[in-house]
Amino acid sequence: MSATLEPDGTHQGVPAYHFDNRLGGPVLSHQERWDEIARTHSGFRSTTARGYWVVTEGEAVQQALQDWRTFSNQSVTALDPDPRFLWIPEMLDPPQHTAWRRLLGSAFSPKTVAAREPEIREVASGLIDELKDSGSADVLDSFARRFPTLIFMRLMGLPEQDLPQFLDWIHDLLHLSHGEDPHGERQLSAMNAVSEYFEQQIAIRREAPRDDLLSRAMTWTIDDEPISDRDMHAFCILLFQAGFDTVPISIGWALYHFATHPEQRRAIVEDPALIPTAVEEILRVYSFVVPARKATQDVEIGGCPVRAGEMVMLPLAVSNRDPERFDRPLEVDLRRKATNHIAFGSGPHRCLGSHLARLELNVAVEAWHRRIPDYGITAGQDLEQHGNMYGIKQLRLEW
Ligand code: HEM
Repeated sequence: MSATLEPDGTHQGVPAYHFDNRLGGPVLSHQERWDEIARTHSGFRSTTARGYWVVTEGEAVQQALQDWRTFSNQSVTALDPDPRFLWIPEMLDPPQHTAWRRLLGSAFSPKTVAAREPEIREVASGLIDELKDSGSADVLDSFARRFPTLIFMRLMGLPEQDLPQFLDWIHDLLHLSHGEDPHGERQLSAMNAVSEYFEQQIAIRREAPRDDLLSRAMTWTIDDEPISDRDMHAFCILLFQAGFDTVPISIGWALYHFATHPEQRRAIVEDPALIPTAVEEILRVYSFVVPARKATQDVEIGGCPVRAGEMVMLPLAVSNRDPERFDRPLEVDLRRKATNHIAFGSGPHRCLGSHLARLELNVAVEAWHRRIPDYGITAGQDLEQHGNMYGIKQLRLEW
């Protein structure tokens, strides 16, 4: 077992560890830790907080994500089986979940997303043009975080001058270390500010609807009932959480990957037709989302005797880096044929934004390499990644 995991006895006969997924670590350490655990365990017990189960067998992870009757989304936070908040549609189970997904489907369909491609290209190219003559930059702050946030704000119809404010909130909500915010006050205050912001945006549109996703969503009905402001708010908060960090993290990994694999970088520069497979492979190999579910009944999964009401963590990395599933699973293979990963999840909650995310990633990689084909990691940095969702904290490149 990894030196980073301290044994803590057994729980109902299953090995237990002091395992805390919130902690950051050196770049790629979380993914490698999952590889190591998955080699020796099909599941284990974490003794963090009230305790939860962790499944580390790739197939079992996917199976649990698909079995919504046994593994409910009432809570999706392993540390808290009884949250006092609601994110829509992530924390709904069918049939309410199905009704929301039906409504949301068209706004995030491949066709709707494709229609935004020229705008997405223009935003990406503009941001890269702004920094390309500087010769060096922290690419997360100057590009990866700004690009998808701007696209998302436009999609929702939020004023673009609020971008710096959004980036600050995202930082305080998702990226503060324990040392920076020991009592979680800054995080809570950012959460309250985001919440208030969306309340205001909803109120503005109740007064006078606009031509944007938020206004349109406010006209939807479920079972002939209009959607309440409270539910609309829960939807905005989820989109904020789901859409704002994931694409920046993936762009960060893509640039890190091509900075550390110059031969592959040259290959995509010479033949951009390789980019779609490269993007899928990067999503797979650098998997960073760790869903969790609440058991509705006693069930055994990955060798864990889960009781009804207990939380189960389902790291996607163990499926996406599973040697049983992929040949040379840890390698980004630009010519791989079978790239059917579960980086966007599996089952009813599979990512709503996957088409948008894929387009943004392809555009980002293509636009970047057309303008900045040759670059490397600036020496002297300690490359670290966050806990929870494993994104690189800062990445300074030079070209
Ligand atoms: C590379 C980028 C992205 C990745 C890797 C990603 C990954 C995921 C994953 C793994 C889930 C399932 C979580 C679970 O099973 O509990 C999910 C759900 C979701 N994602 Fe994404 N996501 C990305 C981008 C986006 C974007 C850009 C949006 C929206 C603008 C978005 C919106 C959502 C929503 C709304 C859900 C909840 C779906 C539901 O509960 O039915 N995601 N995403």
